[in-house]
Amino acid sequence: MIKAEHLVKYFGPKLAVNDVSFTVGRGEVLGFLGPNGAGKSTSMRMITGFFAPSAGTVTIDGHDIVNDSIAAKACIGYLPENAPAYPEMTVQRFLNFMAAVRGLRGRAATEAVEKVIETCFLQSVRRQPIETLSKGFRHRTCFAQAILHDPPALVLDEPTDGLDPNQKHEMRNLIKRMGRSKAIILSTHILEEVDAVCSRVIIIDRGRLVFNGTPADLRGKSDLAGAVTARFLGQSANTVREAFRDQAAVARVVTISDEDGAAVLRFYPRGEAAGPPNLARLVAESAKSRGWLVDQLRTEEGALDAVFHALTASDTGAKEKEVAA
Ligand SMILES: Nc1ncnc2c1ncn2[C@@H]1O[C@H](COP(=O)(O)OP(=O)(O)OP(=O)(O)O)[C@@H](O)[C@H]1O
Ligand SMILES: [Mg+2]
Repeated sequence: MIKAEHLVKYFGPKLAVNDVSFTVGRGEVLGFLGPNGAGKSTSMRMITGFFAPSAGTVTIDGHDIVNDSIAAKACIGYLPENAPAYPEMTVQRFLNFMAAVRGLRGRAATEAVEKVIETCFLQSVRRQPIETLSKGFRHRTCFAQAILHDPPALVLDEPTDGLDPNQKHEMRNLIKRMGRSKAIILSTHILEEVDAVCSRVIIIDRGRLVFNGTPADLRGKSDLAGAVTARFLGQSANTVREAFRDQAAVARVVTISDEDGAAVLRFYPRGEAAGPPNLARLVAESAKSRGWLVDQLRTEEGALDAVFHALTASDTGAKEKEVAA
């Protein structure tokens, strides 16, 4: 549905987006991650035809965004960064206007506007001028115009920015539901959002694509993925470390806490034989053979924030080392 090929954007001499390619099919929600200034909004502006790429192409359902822009844009709903809208219009007038822009007339327009007012919980503010709305309501009004014409492709630049926790939750559910039939790209700085709604993740750093895969793939790159954390009752951390000193399947042991009566340690795997659940079994059996009581034991899935940091850290050398580990 959305196909971006070798996108490049220069602002004067500044290279903001550097050879970014990806596709998004129906039924996919693609999370766009990256530090501030990485080029997420710039990429989204090129995808939606807000401005032309310096090089590369975008097609939406087969329509080129530059050469066949009206057909391509008809397929897209776009929530731009900071949710711009006409401040002096009321919510109702703005949505009526956007329905007309989208070519909806008469009953179809009325029905579409009523539907999004309901979906986006705008009933209480429909007669209020947009400039008097709170940030969250302005955001929801702008989101409403993005989905008004029920487009097959949605491009959402930080769709949960400024929403309260309940509305964030609602918005994520809505995106997930729409993601079953549409192709959706959303940018976010909230890593838990990736888990909550995205089927795939792209990370860009300083204009370049540095990761494209599933959230599970991303987590799997974490140093922590596959490590086993266990709590030993009645043992000191030193005693436990000593016992695991020469285990081939254990790369290293880290003490998480060592307090009266309980030590929590983390075991990092080495080699294929240490893959889950083998390392967990090894830890449990070693403890049992010594008569030690283990009351907590879990295999770590890996932490998204650690991988994000490793992939986008400014020192390239350090970055590669961390990811490799
Ligand atoms: N119209 C413009 N003119 C000049 N430079 C621009 C323009 N728009 C963006 N840039 C620059 O391009 C780079 C990428 O900006 P962009 O807004 O795409 O980042 P982003 O990934 O969306 O960041 P954020 O997480 O802060 O929203 C930045 O260095 C920015 O200053
Ligand atoms: Mg942005």
